[in-house]
Amino acid sequence: MLESLPERVSIYEVSPRDGLQNEAKPIPLEGKVELLRALAASGLSRIELTSFVSPRWVPQLADAEELVKAAVVPPGVTVSALVPNAKGFERALAAGLKEIAVFMSASETHNRKNTNKSIEDSLHTFGEVVAPALAAGLSVRAYVSTVWGCPYEGEVPVSRSVHIAEQLLALGCYQVSLGDTIGVGTPLQTKRLVQAFLSEFPAEKLALHLHDTRGTALANALVGLELGIRDFDSSVAGIGGCPYAPGAAGNLATEDLVYMLDGLGVQTGVDLNLLIEAGRVAEGILGRKLPGKVHQAGPRTLRPA
Ligand code: HMG
Ligand code: MG
Repeated sequence: MLESLPERVSIYEVSPRDGLQNEAKPIPLEGKVELLRALAASGLSRIELTSFVSPRWVPQLADAEELVKAAVVPPGVTVSALVPNAKGFERALAAGLKEIAVFMSASETHNRKNTNKSIEDSLHTFGEVVAPALAAGLSVRAYVSTVWGCPYEGEVPVSRSVHIAEQLLALGCYQVSLGDTIGVGTPLQTKRLVQAFLSEFPAEKLALHLHDTRGTALANALVGLELGIRDFDSSVAGIGGCPYAPGAAGNLATEDLVYMLDGLGVQTGVDLNLLIEAGRVAEGILGRKLPGKVHQAGPRTLRPA
C-alpha cells in the first residue's frame, strides 16, 4: 500500500462547469471570470470552463460564448467545454476553444434524461462531432457517466461501460473520464472497476470523475491512484452535481485531493494555499457554505491572520 505511487498526477478542474451547472441562483459572468482567474493562479492547468449545451436544459451555462470571450486564460492553461452534439461543437469552435469534451452515460435511462438520446444515438452523434473536431485541430475528451451506478437503474454492468469507453476512444477521444455521477462508489467496487478498465486500456487513457455524495470520493481516488490512474477530475470546494441525476451532490473537492497528494509526495503543480483562496472565490460567488473539507478546515499550517 502507498509504495508505488506516481511522481505526478494531472488534475482536471471541473468547478466552472460541473460546479456551477446545478446552481439555482444565476451567477454573474464576472464571478465566473474571477473563478477562472483564481483557479489558474493556483497552478491548475486544465480547466473545464463551461458547456455548449442547450441553454434551455442548463440555463446556468447559457453565457458560454460570453464567458469564453471574457475569460483571461494564462499561457500554459487549457480550457475546455462540454459539447453534446454538432451544434455544440460548432459553437465551441466559433468561440475558439482548443479542447472539448463529449459526454454520455453507461445507463440508458440517465442518458435519455440527460441528453434526450439513447446510448446508440449518442455514439452516433459523437461520430459526427469527434472527427470534425480533430480535423479542426481540437483535442476531444470523453465522459462516461453512471459507471458506478445509475440513479434510475441502479447497478450498471462494468462490461457496458468498458464497451462504451472503447468506442469513444476508437472515435479519437484522447481520454475517457469515468464518472461516479451520483457518488455511490466504494473502494472495493472502485478497485474491481478500475482493474477491469486497466485490463483493456493503458492508464493514460483513463481518468476518474468522482462525486462525493457519500463521502467516499477521496478513498476511491486513492484506490485508483494505487492501481495506476494518473488523471483525476475534481472541483474546488467540492461544488457540483448533474441536474439530471437526482441526488448527485458535489464533486471530489480539489483542495482535498491536493492535500492528500501533497501528503503522499505526489506532485500536482498546484499551490494549496492559492487553491484555498480560489475556493473562497467560489464561496463568494455562490453565497453559501461549501462542502469541501480542506476548504473549511484550511491547510495543516494556518497562515497568521
Ligand atoms: P433536445 O431538446 O433533444 O435537442 O436536447 P434538439 O436537438 O431536439 O434541439 C432542440 C432545440 O435545442 C433546438 O432549438 C436546437 O437548436 C437547440 P429550437 O429549434 O427549438 O430553437 N439545441 C442547442 N442549442 C444550443 N446548443 C446546443 C444545442 N443543441 C440543440 N448544443 C441536448 C438535446 C443534448 C441538446 C440537451 O439534452 C442538452 O443540452 N443536454 C445537456 C444536459 C447537461 O448538460 N447535463 C449536465 C452535464 S453531464 C454531467 O454533469 C455528468 C458529468 O459531470 C460526468 C459525471 O458526473 O458522471 C459530465
Ligand atoms: Mg460530474
